[in-house]
Amino acid sequence: MTEPSAAHEAAVTDRARLTQSAYRSDRDLAARQALYRWQTPRYDLPGLVAEQLSGVRGRVVDVGCGNGTFLQRLREDRPDLALLGLDLSPGILAGVPGPVAVADAMRLPLATGSVGAALAMHMLYHVPEIPRAVRELSRVVARDGVVVASTTRARDKAELEDLWQRAAGDVLGTGRGPARIPLGARFTLEQAPALLGEEFGRVETIELPGTVTVRDPGPVVAHLASYRAWADQHDVPFEATVERARTILVDHIARYGAFEVGCMAGILVCRR
Ligand SMILES: C[S@@+](CC[C@H](N)C(=O)[O-])C[C@H]1O[C@@H](n2cnc3c(N)ncnc32)[C@H](O)[C@@H]1O
Repeated sequence: MTEPSAAHEAAVTDRARLTQSAYRSDRDLAARQALYRWQTPRYDLPGLVAEQLSGVRGRVVDVGCGNGTFLQRLREDRPDLALLGLDLSPGILAGVPGPVAVADAMRLPLATGSVGAALAMHMLYHVPEIPRAVRELSRVVARDGVVVASTTRARDKAELEDLWQRAAGDVLGTGRGPARIPLGARFTLEQAPALLGEEFGRVETIELPGTVTVRDPGPVVAHLASYRAWADQHDVPFEATVERARTILVDHIARYGAFEVGCMAGILVCRR
């Protein structure tokens, strides 16, 4: 993953872009989530999160809950919990069963110490001031509570970056083209323990490495296309690059039988 430039950093955290384009609905998020269906080993991420909450009672808030994957699982596994989903984007909340509310991770509409657990799954890299959001998570969680966050390592899905740059280079006629916007670079699994450690005495990292293997270009093309909200950040015609990537994938799969992507996600379990 390349270091984000100031322009990329601004685009990854831009409120209007997040709410009106990237997460206006769950179309692009769902395409990114779907890639993990082809991962080996398969991790039951919502189940792993539910496990971490086994000692938690009362209220649980999912900050940046997106399309409600984690809320849905907790609703099934833990009917005893009072769940609340919060997200910056009203559009993505539309299909999530309540209670849900529009809220910013940097200003949570919750009383101090009022929840037993807070989730911040794959979302802190979108927050303009990450330390401020970490302070808010710490503030709302009870003294004996838990915060579960998630993100990916800097080298996560490096093959997709490589594919993008090859496709972009072909479109531009320049050999290797410019890198994609690095969505997760502001809060990687490498950086996360120090950032969370500012508020939490114990931060445990659970690594979830795996390999996605596809024999059809569809899921990878859909993943690349899911960056369309940032199309203007790519210094290359976006649709043409996605289509060129499809052709490269078709050739690769015809030649080698499959296309593989190394995934390096993880969860962070934070206690005081
Ligand atoms: C990559 S999605 C992750 C969704 C969900 N947590 C998951 O893991 O499936 C990031 C989500 O964070 C939300 N988000 C971005 N910035 C936010 C902020 N400052 N406060 C609250 N939510 C935010 C987005 O609208 C989006 O739904």
